[in-house]
Amino acid sequence: MNSQIGDIHIRAMNYLEVRPLRLEVLRAGMASQTVDFDGDDDKTTVHLGAFDETGVNIGVSSWMQRPFQPEPDLKAVQLRGMATAVHLQSHGIGGLLLDAGHTHAHEIGFHVIWANARDTALNFYNRHGYTTVGEGFIETVTQLPHHKVVKYLLR
Ligand SMILES: CC(C)(COP(=O)(O)OP(=O)(O)OC[C@H]1O[C@@H](n2cnc3c(N)ncnc32)[C@H](O)[C@@H]1OP(=O)(O)O)[C@@H](O)C(=O)NCCC(=O)NCCS
Repeated sequence: MNSQIGDIHIRAMNYLEVRPLRLEVLRAGMASQTVDFDGDDDKTTVHLGAFDETGVNIGVSSWMQRPFQPEPDLKAVQLRGMATAVHLQSHGIGGLLLDAGHTHAHEIGFHVIWANARDTALNFYNRHGYTTVGEGFIETVTQLPHHKVVKYLLR
């Protein structure tokens, strides 16, 4: 795929590969340096990463089959660990990863995507068709304000 910063390649990764970028981007300056998520090594979990022309990992995202509690009967995918390398944020890489994750969900017949989103990223999700639902909360590990966001894919 072409982007403003050159050719970006999106591919599946294993959960060990996603850890360095999670640590660098999602745990910078935090007391917790934990980057393992429950469900990371589930057979149904898919980790999608963005790579630059030289093969360097510049974005990560993890897509886990998890019910969305307000609608537990629907087959839903939870997006977790969404991160773009700091120096490359706001160049469209996150958008490419969302597109790839939505395609994955669509292919497996799941049409609801949700996430616990940092409030600082709500604009990003809203611009990609996610709706903010419910009250805000402080997420335990990061101690940052979050909201749930959800997107319903067209069938
Ligand atoms: C949130 C995050 C994953 C988004 O990834 P990203 O690669 O920066 O995403 P994009 O570049 O596709 O979009 C981000 C913004 O850049 C803008 N943008 C996208 N392409 C652009 C381009 N070519 N030129 C200028 N701006 C652009 C988008 O409009 C978007 O703006 P918005 O946030 O106001 O909606 C990333 O910023 C990040 O890792 N943040 C820190 C960790 C974090 O908060 N993770 C999410 C936890 S829920």
